Amino acid sequence: MNVLGIETSCDETAASVVQDGTTLLSNQVFSSMNLHAQFGGVVPEIAARSHLEVIETVIEAALEEAKFNWSDVDAIAVTQGAGLGGSLLIGVITAATLAIIKDKPLYSVNHVIGHVYANMIKTSPLNNYIFNSNQIEFPLLAIIVSGGHTQLAIFYDDLNYQLLGKTLDDAVGEVFDKVAKIIGLPYPGGPQIAHLAEDGDPNFYQLPQARLDNKYDFSFSGPKTAVLRLAQKEIGKDYNFPSFELKKYLNKTQKANIAASFQYVVVKTIVSKVKMAYNDFQPKSILLAGGVAANQELRRQLLEIIPAKQLFYPDIKLCTDNGAMIAARGFYQIKNNLKPVDPYQIDILPNLKM
Ligand code: KG4
Ligand code: ZN
Repeated sequence: MNVLGIETSCDETAASVVQDGTTLLSNQVFSSMNLHAQFGGVVPEIAARSHLEVIETVIEAALEEAKFNWSDVDAIAVTQGAGLGGSLLIGVITAATLAIIKDKPLYSVNHVIGHVYANMIKTSPLNNYIFNSNQIEFPLLAIIVSGGHTQLAIFYDDLNYQLLGKTLDDAVGEVFDKVAKIIGLPYPGGPQIAHLAEDGDPNFYQLPQARLDNKYDFSFSGPKTAVLRLAQKEIGKDYNFPSFELKKYLNKTQKANIAASFQYVVVKTIVSKVKMAYNDFQPKSILLAGGVAANQELRRQLLEIIPAKQLFYPDIKLCTDNGAMIAARGFYQIKNNLKPVDPYQIDILPNLKM
């Protein structure tokens, strides 16, 4: 069963072909990131226009890379939500149109669950690479950490899952991006902070962790504001000093110590919740998902509490937004006998929850 996955929820226009939910036959991703860099975040109108310009080319390239004709495609899966309205619309309209004219069943996928299912992709003939060889088993604990999402969920099987906790304010990737901006690192800030943190001392600044009613929820506004305040203090200014000026006055060592201390506390917070969920639900597998899954400090701290054979994370290319994760999730929906959607009726769901 070959599924073409199409993803356009944010700033990546992506299409992939995945066989049986596990084998990556192609993976095409076009990012409009450079168009947003000067604004310090994704501009929805610019993202939507970029999707419109490239989506046909990206899909054609995905089929070509897989050496596929349309007759080889068994189904189309598309991100229906959550995401930016204009961006989702381009992907959904394109997928629905193709489903109609090529006569293929169409499946709608929840973007966040798609991130989790990136872990199901095991191999790819594209580079003869085995992404992971251990068996993923239910119940599984999913740690979804991306630019738009921070969720902890337990999956009893493909269709039955329970959301344990979520962020009450910023998503973890978002807060990496915001702190990066304060210390003058370009967008997206996550990888930049991780890189700079290598030169810093993670214990140099003590940043706060939030205490919340639901022990599985997250809040990252505390450490973010704490970074702002300590940066102002470090350069001898008070809380009125504008955040966008700080980067000019902080030296390299201060920035590195901020990056390291911030990353350390955010990762520690995530890992402490995972540890509780691990004890409470005894999942057989733990799956990292989303762009922040690429963070090495997160993997390192998780491996201190979880045996390596139980921890899964996608190949780096499949951590950030891609079409393969949507194709993989689509396959498991088909496998579980979920019905295709009507391409004449499908609508976008920008606020889709888990
Ligand atoms: O999954 P993704 O592409 O976006 C959403 O679907 O929301 O993830 C992008 C996010 C950005 O916020 C980026 O800063 C963050 O993932 N990120 C990282 C790392 N690589 C990407 N954050 C921390 N450490 C990294 N190594
Ligand atoms: Zn995403």
